[in-house]
Amino acid sequence: MKITFHGHSCVSIELSDKTRLIIDPFITGNPLTDLNADEVEVDYILLTHGHNDHVGDTETIAQNNDAIIIANVELADYFSDQGFETHGLNIGGGFNFPFGYVKNTIAYHSSSYVVDGERIPMGVAGGFLIKAEGKIVYHAGDTALFSDMRMYAEEGRIDVAFLPIGDNFTMGPRDALKACHYLQPRKMVPMHYNTFDLIKQDPHKLKEHLPKVVYVMDPGQSLDL
Ligand code: NI
Ligand code: MN
Repeated sequence: MKITFHGHSCVSIELSDKTRLIIDPFITGNPLTDLNADEVEVDYILLTHGHNDHVGDTETIAQNNDAIIIANVELADYFSDQGFETHGLNIGGGFNFPFGYVKNTIAYHSSSYVVDGERIPMGVAGGFLIKAEGKIVYHAGDTALFSDMRMYAEEGRIDVAFLPIGDNFTMGPRDALKACHYLQPRKMVPMHYNTFDLIKQDPHKLKEHLPKVVYVMDPGQSLDL
């Protein structure tokens, strides 16, 4: 599998059977992106929660690709009402998709979506544990640190964990190090930083603490698993 980071919390995964997933496709308005929303080609769009810096260009991408949107039930229902194909999950629940198993994990965060100036509640924020091709990828979404992350380490060795480090809206760098302690991933890729002034962080400082685990990815950079 090939995993590519696209700035903020946007990550894409291409499997060897050519199935393509994108998580939290915030492209338009994301100063760190390497993508153009009109050119994204995917089969599935996974959304951790309703905030606009995560839902991003979902409509455009889903429309252009007939992609299936995987999200919490409220967010999935919202897009289903707009005519899109969706699959709703709720916290702790997972499903065997043709490409692999996706579990909706806990996140301590809020979830709402602003559309046409109106803020709509969008269920509970989460993350995803994705098991495909014998690999495990964890995308924490936006979350505070929580010690139950240990449970996810017990499901099998996490190959790559994408964790927010920006602070202010999510856990910061110190808590991200504790999260690594709980999750014991082979690699941890920092995300959700430097997109806005409020979440400025130096991911390389984290690397000094856990040089073998912290793996800083530039937007557009890929990792082959
Ligand atoms: Ni958020
Ligand atoms: Mn966010």
